Amino acid sequence: MAETLSFNCGDCQCRIKTSFQRLKVIINGEDRPITTSSDLINPQASPDADPPVLQVWGGYPLRGHVKISGAKNSALAIIAAALLCPQDCRIRNVPSLVDVTRMGQILLSLGVKLEQHGDVLDINANVIGQSKAPYELVSQLRASFFVIGPLLARLGAARIPLPGGCTIGARPVELHVRGLQAMGADVEIEHGIVHAYVTGSNRKLKGAKIYLDYPSVGATETLMMAATLAEGETTIENAAQEPEVIDLANFCQAMGAKIRGAGTNTIAIVGVRSLHSVDYTINPDRIEAGTFLVAGAITHSELSLSPVVPDHLTAVIAKLRDIGAQVIAEAPNRLRIIPEHSLKATDIETLPYPGFPTDMQAQFMALLTLSQGDSLITETVFENRLRHVAELNRMGADIRVKGKNAIVRGVSILSGAPVVATDLRASAALVLAGLAAKGKTTIHGLHHLDRGYDQLEMKLLSLGAKLQRLPNSAADADSRSTSNPVSIHQRD
Ligand code: EPZ
Repeated sequence: MAETLSFNCGDCQCRIKTSFQRLKVIINGEDRPITTSSDLINPQASPDADPPVLQVWGGYPLRGHVKISGAKNSALAIIAAALLCPQDCRIRNVPSLVDVTRMGQILLSLGVKLEQHGDVLDINANVIGQSKAPYELVSQLRASFFVIGPLLARLGAARIPLPGGCTIGARPVELHVRGLQAMGADVEIEHGIVHAYVTGSNRKLKGAKIYLDYPSVGATETLMMAATLAEGETTIENAAQEPEVIDLANFCQAMGAKIRGAGTNTIAIVGVRSLHSVDYTINPDRIEAGTFLVAGAITHSELSLSPVVPDHLTAVIAKLRDIGAQVIAEAPNRLRIIPEHSLKATDIETLPYPGFPTDMQAQFMALLTLSQGDSLITETVFENRLRHVAELNRMGADIRVKGKNAIVRGVSILSGAPVVATDLRASAALVLAGLAAKGKTTIHGLHHLDRGYDQLEMKLLSLGAKLQRLPNSAADADSRSTSNPVSIHQRD
């Protein structure tokens, strides 16, 4: 049976179509021949066939303060929500990420006006030129499916390609679709495209009582946005309670939407005729903040970070304290981690908020590889989010996987190795493991990292980390030389 690979969620810049024999990879619209798996990492055809890699030298303590950027998962939903408003929307604290750029491209492809100045985004969706989002863009960014709610609410029609699965799971969207149908939309899926439209004279969605089988973040956000302009009241029960859902609700309310209960498991939205202009600042990214807290713990370094909302990190902070680290709220929006020399083991089960976030599972696994004792990690949110285990084991970790459980047996050291990032949070886990490992780690697949971390390397360098990004070919040449981090930097 020919080996197949599939990831197609925008989590990477590649779209892989079939089995190895007939594999073609399309990068930026250009076909590339693929013969072996390593070609995925460095297809020979064109210049970016020499993708960058990150070299990390471990064992150096970090110190200082790091600034946390705006939240990726808030930004993506809030940019989509700007489609609900016929007036100017100014969105501040927008992180500089590949995913954010892609969401912007989707709005531009719908004929919306959009300008970016640093971390400020100005959007005007007075005119939405069309209701169809291009497959090329949607296939690169799952979250772009969220535009189906605002387009249906504004135009009474939307044609959005199915986002498809990704490396961390199948990620279906039936909860989004069923909720929109409950609000009166006719939805057909043909040739991989979701055709949704509202019949009737004013083509308006109607308020409805919706119960979600699972507190899906995306479905809650899509339906909450759609309901803001619907006729009547909508309630979403068993809704997601993530801080990003609250951030989105606050943005919509700032435009005049009537929303109650965001952040609880029941959200009520009373539709309004239209929304007005807004100037809104996005929350800091709790997952980026959590990643830096783990960076402090895994390198036994004292670090402070801001702005953060400590309450958004309750589950993560609790687990850091469990294993012996001290985490102090130095100010309402500032945290300090004071590490312990030896880390204890602990068990983690990922759950919808306020449970332990699945987006911190990989980073925490990297940390627990160096703890004293055995930890059990259970990934309950996504069915295929343990692919970083093999790469951490390549670095000398001792992790065994059984279904959705990973048993992490603590080891005394990790050693640097060439590793491949398989998704966004896995890439962060490999950077963290590299910071703690003996020697040099070379991380391939950086397009995952760039999707969700705003200037991670710059921030780590400012804290004293030893790392550099360079083309794969240069890294190969470099591995033949005996250079060490210090001389590398001098060369920079
Ligand atoms: C959001 O994804 C985040 N992405 C994810 O962050 C995050 O991991 C996830 O929520 C959970 O917290 C964005 O906000 C852009 P879900 P989303 O719908 O909305 C199943 C990161 O690393 N499900 O809550 O796609 C689904 O398959 C990313 O930043 C259905 O079965 O997550 C999954 O197993 C990764 N049917 C579970 O629910 C549906 O219709 C949770 O998915 C919808 C979801």
